[in-house]
Amino acid sequence: MIPYKTIIKIDRASKQPVYIQLTNQFIDLIKKRTLPPRTKLPGSRTLADLIGLHRKTVIACYEELTLQGWIESIPKKGTFVHKDIPVLQQQEWIEKTVSKKDDKAGFSFNKKSLLTRKFPQDHLDDYMYVNDGVSDERLAPVKELSIIYRKIANKKHTLKYMNYGTTYGNLELRETLACYLSETRGLNITKDNILITRGSQMGMFLASQLLVENQDYIIVGETNYSSADTTFEYAHAKLLRVKVDEHGLDTHDIEKLCKNYAVKAVYTTPHHHHPTTVTLCAKRRMHLLNLAKTYHFAILEDDYDYDFHYNHAPILPLSSHDTCGNVIYIGSICKTVAPVFRVGYLVAPKAFVDECAKLRRFVDRQGDAILELTFSSFIKDGSLDRHIKKVVKIYKDRRDLFCNLLKEELSDYLSFEIPKGGMALWVTLNKKYSWDTVTEIAKEHKLIISEWQRYDVTNCKHNAIRMGFSCYNETEAKEFVRRFKKTMQDIDLQESFSY
Ligand SMILES: Cc1ncc(COP(=O)(O)O)c(C=O)c1O
Repeated sequence: MIPYKTIIKIDRASKQPVYIQLTNQFIDLIKKRTLPPRTKLPGSRTLADLIGLHRKTVIACYEELTLQGWIESIPKKGTFVHKDIPVLQQQEWIEKTVSKKDDKAGFSFNKKSLLTRKFPQDHLDDYMYVNDGVSDERLAPVKELSIIYRKIANKKHTLKYMNYGTTYGNLELRETLACYLSETRGLNITKDNILITRGSQMGMFLASQLLVENQDYIIVGETNYSSADTTFEYAHAKLLRVKVDEHGLDTHDIEKLCKNYAVKAVYTTPHHHHPTTVTLCAKRRMHLLNLAKTYHFAILEDDYDYDFHYNHAPILPLSSHDTCGNVIYIGSICKTVAPVFRVGYLVAPKAFVDECAKLRRFVDRQGDAILELTFSSFIKDGSLDRHIKKVVKIYKDRRDLFCNLLKEELSDYLSFEIPKGGMALWVTLNKKYSWDTVTEIAKEHKLIISEWQRYDVTNCKHNAIRMGFSCYNETEAKEFVRRFKKTMQDIDLQESFSY
C-alpha cells in the first residue's frame, strides 16, 4: 500500500471542501499512475484512520471518484482504480505538470504578430499617459444609466430579452437610432439599415471580413487609425495609402489608384481624420462619393467623434449624401458616453446589414439587450443630447486650456494646429528631438508615451503624435504640461553635457 498518510495533504484553511481536496488528490495519483489501473484502494474506515479524517468524508470522496469513473466498486472484493483508465503520456506527468498559468500550451495555434500591441494595459496611479483622445469617465452619466438599466431589468415584460434573441440588436434601439441618426446626421434610413454592434471596432471588423477576400485592396490614409489598418490586414486586405493634407484624404490620389487597382473600399474618418484631426473638405467629400459610384467601392466611414465639434455645427457625414448605397457608416456611444458601454451601430444598405448580422452570430451571439434598451430610453428622453451638450462645453474649455498651456510652456519644443473638434491634438515635435528620446526621459517623470510609432507606420517621419486633452481637468492639464516640460528640459541638459 502506498504511504497515504504522507502523500495526502489536507488544507483545513482552504475554502474547498475536504472531500473534494481528497478526491482531487486521488485523481492526481491515478493520472500519474502512482495508483495504476486495478489497484485496490483501502477500505473507507482504514483510509479514514490512516489520514485522520471522518469516514463519511472518505465515503463521499469514493462516491465522487466512482461517479467520475476513476474507480469502481467490485462486490465482495473491494474498491479498485478503474481498469479502463487510458494510459496518459506518463512522461509528461512525471516531468512537470504544465500549469495553465505557464506561458505554454499543449497544442499549437496561430500567433499573429500583427495583433501585438505594446502599450500598457494597466495604468499606474501616479503616472500620466499620453492618450489618443478619450472621454473623461468621471463625466459619464453612470447614475442616470444605472437607474434606467435597473428599471428596465426589473420590468416583467423585459424577461423575454434575457434569452437568446436577434443578432441584429434590440429592435427598439434600432428604431430609436433610425430616428436619432436621421435627425442628427441627416441619414435617410430605417431600422433595416442598422445593425447594433459592441462598438465601432466590431462594425469595422464585420465590414472588412465581408468586403475583402484574399489580397483585395483597401485605401487608407498615409497616416491612419492603426487599429483600422490591422483590422483590414487581419481580413487579408492589401492596403494602398494616399496622402493626407490639411483638407483630409487626397481624393485625386484615390482616383489614380482606382484606375490601376480593383479597390474594394476606402476607409475614412472625414469628420476629423485620425490621427491628424483635419476635416475632409466639401469638394473632396463629393469627389469621393462620385468615385465610389464610378468604381463601385465601399466607403467605410468611421464617424468616431461626430459629437465633438467646438467651432461650428458638425459636418454631416458622407453617408447623408449617399444616394447609391456606397457608404457603410460606423459609429458608437463608446466615445460619447464612456468606452465601457459597448454599444455601437453599423448603418448600410439592408443587404449588407443582413450579411453582417449573419456573421455577427459567430463573433458574438448577440449584444446586451438590457443595455441596448437602456440606451434606447436614454436617447429617446433627450438624456444623450443633454449629456453631449454638457461634455462638449467641458471638452471645448479643456481644449482651449490645453492648447494655451502647450503654447505658453512648450512652444520651443513642439507645434500644433488647434483642432476644430475631437478629443486630441496632432502634435509635431521639433525636428531636433525624437519621440524615442522623449518617451524614454518622460518615463522618469512618470509620463508614459505609448507606441508613438503607430502614428507613422509608413515611416514618413512627420515626427507627430496624437495628444488627448479631453480627459484632463485644469489641475491635471497643468501637471501634464509640467511633466512634459521637465522632460524636454532634461533632454536639453543632457545634450548640453554631451558637447
Ligand atoms: C478612429 C477610431 N475608430 C474607432 C474606434 C473604436 O471605437 P469603439 O470604442 O466604438 O469600438 C476608435 C477608438 O479609439 C477610434 O479612435
